[in-house]
Order: sequence, then C-alpha cells, then structure tokens
Amino acid sequence: RILILDFGSQYTQLIARRVRESGVYCEIHPWDMDAQSIRAFAPKGIILSGGPQSVHEPETARTDPSVFELGVPVLGICYGLQTMSAQLGGAVVPSTHREYGYAEVRVHGHSRLLDGIEDRTSPEGQGLLDVWMSHGDRVDVLPPGFSVIAETDHAPLAGIADETRRFYGLQFHPEVTHTRQGQRILERFVHDICGCGRRWTPRNILEESLDRIRAQVGKDRVLLGLSGGVDSSVVAALLHRAIGDQLVCVFVDNGLLRLGEGDQVMSTFARHMGVRVIRVDAEERFLSRLKGITDPEQKRKIIGNTFIEIFDDEASRLEDVRWLAQGTIYPDVIESAAAKTAKARVIKSHHNVGGLPETMNLRLLEPLRELFKDEVRQLGIELGLPYEMVYRHPFPGPGLGVRVLGEVVRDSLATLRQADHIFIEELRRAGLYDQVSQAFAVFLPVHSVGVVGDNRLYAPVIALRAVETLDFMTARWAHLPYEFLDLVCRRIANEVPNVSRVVYDITGKPPGTIEWE
Ligand code: XMP
Repeated sequence: RILILDFGSQYTQLIARRVRESGVYCEIHPWDMDAQSIRAFAPKGIILSGGPQSVHEPETARTDPSVFELGVPVLGICYGLQTMSAQLGGAVVPSTHREYGYAEVRVHGHSRLLDGIEDRTSPEGQGLLDVWMSHGDRVDVLPPGFSVIAETDHAPLAGIADETRRFYGLQFHPEVTHTRQGQRILERFVHDICGCGRRWTPRNILEESLDRIRAQVGKDRVLLGLSGGVDSSVVAALLHRAIGDQLVCVFVDNGLLRLGEGDQVMSTFARHMGVRVIRVDAEERFLSRLKGITDPEQKRKIIGNTFIEIFDDEASRLEDVRWLAQGTIYPDVIESAAAKTAKARVIKSHHNVGGLPETMNLRLLEPLRELFKDEVRQLGIELGLPYEMVYRHPFPGPGLGVRVLGEVVRDSLATLRQADHIFIEELRRAGLYDQVSQAFAVFLPVHSVGVVGDNRLYAPVIALRAVETLDFMTARWAHLPYEFLDLVCRRIANEVPNVSRVVYDITGKPPGTIEWE
C-alpha cells in the first residue's frame, strides 16, 4: 500500500483516487505524521502532495525525515517536490507569484518514472508531455544525487530524480486530467517503481470487507438506519451478505421523500433481498413539527432532530443490538480530520444519523470508511444492487423539506413530487440522466399569473435545476437542449395541477449553491 502525506493541496484526494483506480490501496494522512506511525503503516511507497505554502515561510511544513530513510520510493508533487529538495540539501528559491496552467514539458535524459511516456515527440526526438503546471517556488540547486528528468521553458527543473534511492519529484500535477499521461505516470510509480500489484479491485474489496465484518461483529446484532441513498443502501447489502439476519434496518419515512421512494426501498431490500427492515411512517410527525417554519436552517435542524428522536425510539425497542452501522465514506473521514485542524465555515448544516441513547452502548460499524464514492458504487454493483439505485444522483438528508421553499405543507410536497418525477423520467428517457451530476425540481411558493383554457390561474412556480460537477464544491448549470426543456415544461403544465409556470435555473455554484435552501 501507498502512503500519501497531505500538505493541504486541493488535489490530494484526486491523487488517492488515481492510485486506487490503478488497483493499489492507499491512505491520506497529514504531513506531520510521526516516524513511528509511518513505520507502522509500512508503505511500499510514499507520495508527498502539493500544498498552498511556500518552503520559505517561517513555519513551513516538513515531513518527518524517516520518510527518506525507510528505503521505499518517494514521489513529491509540486510543494512535495520542493520540500523534498529542501530537506535533502537542495536549494529552493522563492517566487513572488504563483501561476497555474497548461505547459509543455520536455522529457529529459532517462528515468524509470517517465521513460517511454509522452504525448508526442519533438523534431529533436525528445518526448513531450502536456501537463497542468503550478509554478510556485522553484528548485534552483538540486539536492546531492539528483538529476533533471523534465523541463519547461519557465521551469528548468520540472522533474527531478535520484534513481539510486528511487526519489522522484514533479513540479506539475499528474493527478489532474489536464495532464494527459498523468494516470500512466502514477501507475508507473506505484506498479513499476514501488512494486505494488493490482490487488484493489471490487471483488477483493468485497471479499476483504465480508471477512472483516464477520470477524468484527461475530454473533452480535447490528442496527442500520436505511435511507435509500447510495451509501446506506450499499452498507445494507454488504451487511446482509456478511451476517444475514443479524442485521436489522430502520427506515424512517419522513414524508419528504420523492414519488414512490418509500415503497421502492421496501421492495428492493425487504421483498427482493430479504433484509429485515422496519418501516416507520412518520410523515405526520415531521409535517406537524415543520408547521409554520420557513427558515431553511431551522427546517434542517427540526428534520435532523426529529429523525434522531424517531430512530432512537425504534432502536431502543430492539433487544441485543450491539452495533450501529453507518455509511461513512472516506471523503467524510478526510474532511472531518481536516475540519478539526482548520475550522471550516458552516454554509449549511448537513445532517446524518446523530446520537443514540448512551444506555444502549452501541459500537460504531463503518464498513465503507476507507472507500471513495466510486468504489462504494462498484461495490454496490458487485453486491447485485440495481444500477439505477447505485448510480442515483445525490439527495439531501432533509429531502424535499429543503426543496419546498418556505413552509413545508402536504399540498406543495405533492405538487413538487409530480413535477420532479416528470423531470427525472424524461431525463432518463432522453439518456441525459447520467450526463448530469444532479437534477431535481424545486417548489417556489411565489404565485404568478397564468392562463389555462379560458381561465386565469394564479398559482406557484416550479423551478428545474440540473448541474454538472465533479466534486459538488463547484458546479456549472447543465446546458440541456431547449427541445428537452420544452418537453418537460409542457408535461408539467399538462399533468401537474396548480402550477402557473416552469423556470430553469441558470446559476452556477458559485454564486448559487446546488440546492435552493
Ligand atoms: P449545496 O446545496 O450545498 O449542495 O451546493 C452540495 C451537495 O450536498 C447536498 N446537500 C446535502 N446532503 N444533507 C445531505 O446529506 C444535507 O443537508 C444537504 N444539503 C445539501 C446537495 O444535494 C448537493 O449534492
């Protein structure tokens, strides 16, 4: 396995995903991981990530020197290259501005890292690579033992190597797709230089997870809050495969789900797979708590708290439960570790399963803790879950509660459900569903004037939202074909009573968030 030491680059998770895609297990740890922990991790190779700092700032991040004493290959990327150079006796000169962008790199001499990898050949016979470069500080004097393996016009030391010790540094980012041969370069490092095999495959992940879960829980019973979302669905299928009837799921229908969603969850899990699912119909309880509430943050809190209350109630009725399973995935783990160091500003409070009565003394079981979202999906497919379920767009915990703007009432929910269903159904039919990252309808309590037949209509508005994004941190609105939008609008106007007009949201993120509340 590979150890990635994180210096705070926005791309660190991408490095990890690329390494995993090449079939090699890796973990991200903070740059200041101590010598003992590094040794205990026993990496077959180490990658030092980029980072926002300059090697020249007074308190700059330096890895523990043991990184360079373990006898394993090391790859430094961007800041990782600079700190490696500085720590091994080279000289790095500051530059006043940082710059990112496309660059053409000339591959220099021979190296195990880059040999034979190129986008084209120059007239002089040199290999050329299209890369995504970050010019920050510059390595000016090579550390002893290193030679240059790549250069650009502006960065004479775009890549360096010490072949004897198997230390490599790249000033550009192999992990981003703009670097066209990036995946090959990373694979060269982990497979050929570190000697890692392609063992991290969905089949192996499944086998190992099953063994680990069985060893962990033995004959104990496990409780899971099933929401119908991808993560909890995969946990349910995985635990059912591992321990069968020892798993009990509680599915709280909060009345804020999409059309037919509750029945679908029951039919997939209870009927088809034979999972023990307790369905709690709690629409009434949620809606009565939400009565008169219009503030989005307050709505989120009420929905979150009511969920916890009901879940706790159900859970405390079960006997002999020893474990609480959760669908925590690797990005959650990384983010909550990062949030501890740098207090992230709360834009919206997201909620997951909260506290349970302490008297229950439940131990936490998080079988997806090490997996990225795409790996969770592959595992779901491996477990036989339907493609449509595993590749569903994300759906927020508070559900339609934050898609009916303002006060949440039953009629508005019903209108929204129908409109949303039409939009999604047409997206699937047109083959557009998988091309957008998330799509949904929003109910606007604003009234506008319309005309139906000969009659004036004064009724609410439906907004359609569809975005394309890789990480949901930024997004662009999906440029859906006009004919398609036209079709959806006509169907909503014809089939959903009491909607005066349909609008399409063309706001990116930023400035808009993906959800409207
Ligand atoms: P925003 O609206 O913040 O959404 O741009 C980014 C992504 O997060 C989802 N989202 C939530 N997910 N609980 C969740 O589990 C929440 O409270 C919540 N709020 C937003 C949103 O659907 C989008 O995918």
